Amino acid sequence: MNNQKEKVVVVGAGLMGTGIAHAFASSGFTTVLVDTNAASLSQAKASIEKILGDGVRLGKVSEEKAKESLANLHTTGDLSEAAAGANLLVETVSEQLAVKKAVISQAAPLLAADAIIATNTSALSVTEIAASVDCADRVVGMHFFNPVHKMKLVELVRGLATTDEVVARTRTYCEQIGKTSIVVNESPGLTTSRMSALLGNEAMWMLQEGTATAEDIDTALRLGFNHPMGPLELGDLTGWDTRLSVLRYLHSTLGEKFRPCPLIIKMVAAGRFGRKTGQGVYRYEDGKQVPGSGLKASAL
Ligand SMILES: NC(=O)c1ccc[n+]([C@@H]2O[C@H](COP(=O)([O-])OP(=O)(O)OC[C@H]3O[C@@H](n4cnc5c(N)ncnc54)[C@H](O)[C@@H]3O)[C@@H](O)[C@H]2O)c1
Repeated sequence: MNNQKEKVVVVGAGLMGTGIAHAFASSGFTTVLVDTNAASLSQAKASIEKILGDGVRLGKVSEEKAKESLANLHTTGDLSEAAAGANLLVETVSEQLAVKKAVISQAAPLLAADAIIATNTSALSVTEIAASVDCADRVVGMHFFNPVHKMKLVELVRGLATTDEVVARTRTYCEQIGKTSIVVNESPGLTTSRMSALLGNEAMWMLQEGTATAEDIDTALRLGFNHPMGPLELGDLTGWDTRLSVLRYLHSTLGEKFRPCPLIIKMVAAGRFGRKTGQGVYRYEDGKQVPGSGLKASAL
């Protein structure tokens, strides 16, 4: 595949769309970033310029490469114009089924005849999204991680109709943008969210039972397994409100082992969502974790 001739459309210029557009533009693809909100587009462009500028300052990207990457990037509010003749569409609009379906059904007939339609949904069904077009065999999940320019993984999700050929071509796109892909047959929580939810839930059960202190549970996984962050610190970062809704969904789809730990339900009821509310398992002051502030089993 000669990526210089390939046109990629990224729909949704939010947090994820910005990173995905940067990845394709800086890998030589003609990249068109689309959003209905003009402010999102200008914010995305500024963020991409900053990522490239930082790369140049740190000596990771040459000035010429940064200029080329920006020249590959185009922004527009017009989805139909952007989609015309494109080889790959990556949909990364807000996580609402109806919005995603509307985007791909408008774009599908305008893309190149063998174009791949990818969705970056975190939790919706790729099969259900694909059902809105008559080329469901070319719809695949491409689940990126935040921040896209730092995270190497893409989880590819095979919907009911996705062909092996489409999965193989999507893997090639991942390689071309410097990412490593894994393939998951559509299933709730894919591999990453499912594993992370279970780990975070188990850590909370241990805290609730008084097995060890919060600090020691986190230290165990950081130093014993080389995790960059402990599961309780990670839950504070993600937000226990988000964690709880993921666990409830996995409990309803995958069964008993995902039943949310009562301590999570209690913390969410108390508004202790984590970093964003200043308190979760730990307390935060000026964005920094207060040493020794981990929730004590004796206080539960
Ligand atoms: N944030 C994450 O860590 C993360 C990680 C992996 C996947 N995802 C998934 O990626 C998708 C986007 O998430 P995000 O965090 O970037 O959201 P975001 O809210 O930052 O961005 C969404 C963007 O979509 C735009 N949009 C909405 N409707 C549109 C339409 N009809 N046409 C064009 N643009 C439209 C909005 O204006 C907004 O700029 C979601 O499906 C989310 O589940 C998010």
